[in-house]
Amino acid sequence: MTGKSIPARTVRTRRIAFSYPTGSLDRHYVQGDLVMSHIVAVLSGLFPEGEDFFIRSVRRYADQVTDPELKKQVSGFIGQEVTHGREHRALNDRLHDMGYPTRMVDRFTHYLMIRSDRLFRQKFQLAVTAALEHYTATIAECLLRKPEAQALLGENEVRSVLLWHALEESEHKTVAFDVYRTVGGSERLRINTMRLTNALFVPIVVVLTAISLAGDRAAYNPVRLLRSLARLRHSPFLTRDMLEHVRAYNRVGFHPDDIDATELLERWKVELFGAEGSLVDHLK
Ligand SMILES: [Fe+2]
Ligand SMILES: [Fe+2]
Repeated sequence: MTGKSIPARTVRTRRIAFSYPTGSLDRHYVQGDLVMSHIVAVLSGLFPEGEDFFIRSVRRYADQVTDPELKKQVSGFIGQEVTHGREHRALNDRLHDMGYPTRMVDRFTHYLMIRSDRLFRQKFQLAVTAALEHYTATIAECLLRKPEAQALLGENEVRSVLLWHALEESEHKTVAFDVYRTVGGSERLRINTMRLTNALFVPIVVVLTAISLAGDRAAYNPVRLLRSLARLRHSPFLTRDMLEHVRAYNRVGFHPDDIDATELLERWKVELFGAEGSLVDHLK
């Protein structure tokens, strides 16, 4: 991408807020499903510190970005990730009150990210950010694309926060990647970093989810636990097309826009923030 101009895309920071009044969420807020409720809580626990790390690793290179379009997108990316972190911290506080170990997950992520800041070179950190942004875009576009994934979420405020976050992850999915290319990041480092991320990310989520479940009395009901695990096997998030979407990143020459989400984004922008959008009342 070095030397080529960056195609225009809108990455705007929405001023938005969500609220979770006491009693508005069931203990197992993902449609009563035990394991999915814990997985979503773990992911939400990982986001704020993870997104702070993404912001630091991109911001460090902001001075080297000269393309005016990419500069604009970097500002939008930072604004969106700052807002995601803030809103997920609010959700995590609520989940903590409901008995989820979101503070432990947050401390763990903080430790991991601060160690990464100190130990690894900056280009590698940017490659980690691009890899994890591919993960978030993959999960986000699965949620936006598949009605059965949306159906899992039910109708509460967690659904709203996740749909908004998913829309913005897809909107800015190329930004960290394009910064990485612009500052001369190699294909070899990019792909090797994704291999390492693949080896670490899923096991980390699995272990944290197991710890989270261990603190929930409902998980000691074997029938309930096994039923929930069985449902997970047929989850729309764990399908072959998801695996292919993740793996596409390992092809030399891959770009996030190779997985076209233009129409999907247009549809969801109207759905959430159009004149009759379901989240217009959340905008400040
Ligand atoms: Fe985000
Ligand atoms: Fe992101």
